[in-house]
Amino acid sequence: MRFLSAAPLLALVPAVLGQDTTILTDLLQSLTSSGLTRLSSIAAQLNSTTAGQSLLSQLSSGASFVLFAPTDNAFNSASSNITSDADILSSVIAYHVVQGNFTGISTTYPNTTVGRTLLNNSTLVQLEGNKNQAVAWAARADGKVHVLNQRNDSIVSNTTTVGNITINIVDHVLNIPQSLAVTVPADNVSLAGIDTALKSVQLSTNQSGSAAFFDILNTQLHGFTFFAPNTSAIQAAASSLSSLQSNTTALQALFQNHLINGSTVYSPELSGQNFTSAAGEPLSFVLNATGHFVTSGNVTAQIVQPDVLLPNGVLHVIDRVLLNTQVDSGAASSAASSASSVATQSTSATAPIGFPATATLTGPGGSAPAASGSGGSGNAAAGGYLVPSMAQVVSVGVAVLGVVAGGRLVLA
Ligand SMILES: *[C@@H]1O[C@H](CO)[C@@H](O)[C@H](O)[C@H]1NC(C)=O
Ligand SMILES: *[C@@H]1O[C@H](CO)[C@@H](O)[C@H](O)[C@H]1NC(C)=O
Ligand SMILES: *[C@@H]1O[C@H](CO)[C@@H](O)[C@H](O)[C@H]1NC(C)=O
Ligand SMILES: *[C@@H]1O[C@H](CO)[C@@H](O)[C@H](O)[C@H]1NC(C)=O
Ligand SMILES: *[C@@H]1O[C@H](CO)[C@@H](O)[C@H](O)[C@H]1NC(C)=O
Ligand SMILES: *[C@@H]1O[C@H](CO)[C@@H](O)[C@H](O)[C@H]1NC(C)=O
Ligand SMILES: *[C@@H]1O[C@H](CO)[C@@H](O)[C@H](O)[C@H]1NC(C)=O
Ligand SMILES: *[C@@H]1O[C@H](CO)[C@@H](O)[C@H](O)[C@H]1NC(C)=O
Ligand SMILES: *[C@@H]1O[C@H](CO)[C@@H](O)[C@H](O)[C@H]1NC(C)=O
Ligand SMILES: *[C@@H]1O[C@H](CO)[C@@H](O)[C@H](O)[C@H]1NC(C)=O
Ligand SMILES: *[C@@H]1O[C@H](CO)[C@@H](O)[C@H](O)[C@H]1NC(C)=O
Ligand SMILES: *[C@@H]1O[C@H](CO)[C@@H](O)[C@H](O)[C@H]1NC(C)=O
Repeated sequence: MRFLSAAPLLALVPAVLGQDTTILTDLLQSLTSSGLTRLSSIAAQLNSTTAGQSLLSQLSSGASFVLFAPTDNAFNSASSNITSDADILSSVIAYHVVQGNFTGISTTYPNTTVGRTLLNNSTLVQLEGNKNQAVAWAARADGKVHVLNQRNDSIVSNTTTVGNITINIVDHVLNIPQSLAVTVPADNVSLAGIDTALKSVQLSTNQSGSAAFFDILNTQLHGFTFFAPNTSAIQAAASSLSSLQSNTTALQALFQNHLINGSTVYSPELSGQNFTSAAGEPLSFVLNATGHFVTSGNVTAQIVQPDVLLPNGVLHVIDRVLLNTQVDSGAASSAASSASSVATQSTSATAPIGFPATATLTGPGGSAPAASGSGGSGNAAAGGYLVPSMAQVVSVGVAVLGVVAGGRLVLA
């Protein structure tokens, strides 16, 4: 079964689909001739689940897709539970299929390209408006394209095209984004400080009384963008943070000023438009030859690691704490309603996220996406958002952000 030859598989194809079988036949033949026999044979396993059948039928629709195609070695070294369970397999393969035409994009926007995959299993993805999960990739200084957020560095080794499907051969099976609680320890060098801070600040929620900011991000929000200061940023801001220790309102506002409430905004969308934080303050963005920057109040931070994907949102790691304790409740509420209505609008993923299908791109910092909507907060109808008026600090312990010793913040 593992190395099922292409012949019986292709014989299955007409039964699998009521649609254009030529497309699937061509695709599987191409995979087989590129030596991707494991992936090709997986099509038969997919056919045993409703989700898998839906995946095959979408792939054969004639629309444009990018398929991240793991090599046989990649499948051989992947955890066996991925291929032994047809339901898990359907989700895993769905995460390897990106909707849209990405032709010509990777060479014009080298930092991050983000696409919407076919993964919509609600156990694994809880984005606003039930959006499908995204995958992000980037060309690096080594000249290779790396898929981001992977436990093993995953590199595109070759790219071919079959009809409207672009096949990017990758050397690992891609990992579906995991929760904040799983993601943060996996990156404990840069995120240990914010981990401690977010677990120390309590917010009230509309549902369950109070919860740590961390738990709210981890499970309660469905759609958010959080600018996560790295550990050196938290250390550099230690005296400012400790001076706010007794002022719970200010601390709460500070962390809400790092959050876009209700909208998952990927880095290509973070230029050419401004957003409103969960505290109602403007977040403005600059993309230039030096890098990508976010400004809140009088602090500008550089985004040092964009697009850390989560099941329910996205993190962008920044190099400074946005020391802004201002609040504008009216703007926060208005951004919440706006994001709430944006989340209900249907979107079709026909191009990279953040780029209109017709964009002419000139390079990093080149033509920016057309702005539409104000970003902001809230997925009001569905829950999974912060209600600005109710998001008050309930209680903050003595050591709000780790342990304060000698007037300095000491990370726990
Ligand atoms: C594949 O799916 C089709 C349509 O549901 C079905 O007729 C066929 O028996 C399936 N084949 C296998 C091997 O599961
Ligand atoms: C890339 O794939 C094409 C088509 O399968 C093949 O001709 C070519 O040799 C491959 N290149 C590399 C570097 O593997
Ligand atoms: C590829 O896409 C084009 C434009 O959307 C469409 O006209 C064409 O039929 C598609 N090709 C296949 C093989 O479906
Ligand atoms: C597969 O097993 C590994 C441990 O071998 C575990 O970490 C992982 O969560 C499992 N994956 C799924 C989808 O169950
Ligand atoms: C969704 O994912 C969960 C966890 O992997 C799995 O148990 C379930 O069967 C999946 N549902 C579908 C429809 O594939
Ligand atoms: C994809 O985009 C490229 C470049 O913009 C274009 O040449 C090609 O026709 C498009 N393909 C489809 C199927 O739309
Ligand atoms: C996932 O997408 C497929 C294909 O578009 C659709 O049939 C299915 O209902 C969706 N599932 C969920 C949970 O939205
Ligand atoms: C707490 O911080 C807020 C916002 O910066 C400020 O308006 C308020 O005066 C501060 N309260 C105290 C007691 O310092
Ligand atoms: C974003 O905000 C900055 C600073 O307030 C402003 O200069 C810029 O014009 C705004 N950009 C857009 C697209 O509104
Ligand atoms: C890019 O913007 C940042 C933040 O505004 C600024 O510090 C930097 O000097 C700018 N770089 C260039 C090349 O303009
Ligand atoms: C893009 O990535 C390169 C290195 O990979 C880096 O030097 C450059 O600053 C990045 N540009 C932006 C706009 O982030
Ligand atoms: C930044 O703004 C805060 C008030 O929000 C103020 O206390 C601080 O002095 C300002 N810093 C600079 C460098 O302007």
